[in-house]
Amino acid sequence: MKGDLKSILSKRLNSDELEVLIKSYDIIGDIGVIRIPEELSEHKATIAGAIMLQHKHVKAVWRQSSPVSGPYRVRSLEWVGGEKRAQTIHKENGYSLKVDVQECYFSPRLGAERMRIAGLAEDSELVVNMFAGVGSYSIAIGKYSGARKTISIDINPVAINYMKENILLNRLVGKILPIHGDARTTIENSLKELADRVLMPLPHEAFEYLDSAVAAIRPPRGWIHYYEFEHACKGEDPTKAVKQRVADRLKDCSAKVVDMHSRIVRQTGPNWYQIALDVQVEKQE
Ligand SMILES: C[S@@+](CC[C@H](N)C(=O)[O-])C[C@H]1O[C@@H](n2cnc3c(N)ncnc32)[C@H](O)[C@@H]1O
Repeated sequence: MKGDLKSILSKRLNSDELEVLIKSYDIIGDIGVIRIPEELSEHKATIAGAIMLQHKHVKAVWRQSSPVSGPYRVRSLEWVGGEKRAQTIHKENGYSLKVDVQECYFSPRLGAERMRIAGLAEDSELVVNMFAGVGSYSIAIGKYSGARKTISIDINPVAINYMKENILLNRLVGKILPIHGDARTTIENSLKELADRVLMPLPHEAFEYLDSAVAAIRPPRGWIHYYEFEHACKGEDPTKAVKQRVADRLKDCSAKVVDMHSRIVRQTGPNWYQIALDVQVEKQE
């Protein structure tokens, strides 16, 4: 079916309703996830039907009723159409990711960022992914880099189980090591001074864990991939404050910034951005 959601629904919703319809939504494997404003609640099944009409492979549609929240970074979802199923296999960049959209964090919008990080990992490196979820970044690194191993920590036991399935699904046994637990405690107990590269894909809270990332780095130096959300008005550079804040914090953690690159990964709302910093640090004793 050709056309966007708005045009597909133009005969079912009136002009006021079409005005509040949120046009963007996620397709994760064969599941659609959409935010539906309260005013359109009575039309939720119609909207679900329109998504399945637009994307013939979509078999289930869920309504996102909260932003991602809590320690596991999951969103509240209400089933609105198709099969009542939250588990799916998402394919991107030549690998597959099995995920339960209700129980685990997953965003199909970060596929390009996963490939960018995989492209930076060098041969024989040991990588630590502190907030690995179902293993999305780790699988990309395992598939597309020569990294020796990616140790992949997550606090959500369901995400770890999916990560284990994804390692099998993508034939990466031995290249990705899943660890269930808190990243800080895990690094403190068993991963100090081992990593050439550390990933911190927990944008709302990564700052609090910078000392652990530094602790994981093998002296004398290594790379930290840091994520954060930042607000910026029109014309402002949203990366500026993040770079300063992170450089200051790293200094407090006895880590000298040798090199730092920043980029906007995506816009997450009006004047809000997800920022990535690639920081090479040298440990100071
Ligand atoms: C924003 S999600 C990113 C997941 C994955 N990297 C991805 O992009 O698909 C952050 C993940 O960090 C996990 N997490 C949160 N706090 C944690 C902690 N203290 N230690 C380990 N994992 C944690 C959550 O369970 C969640 O899976």
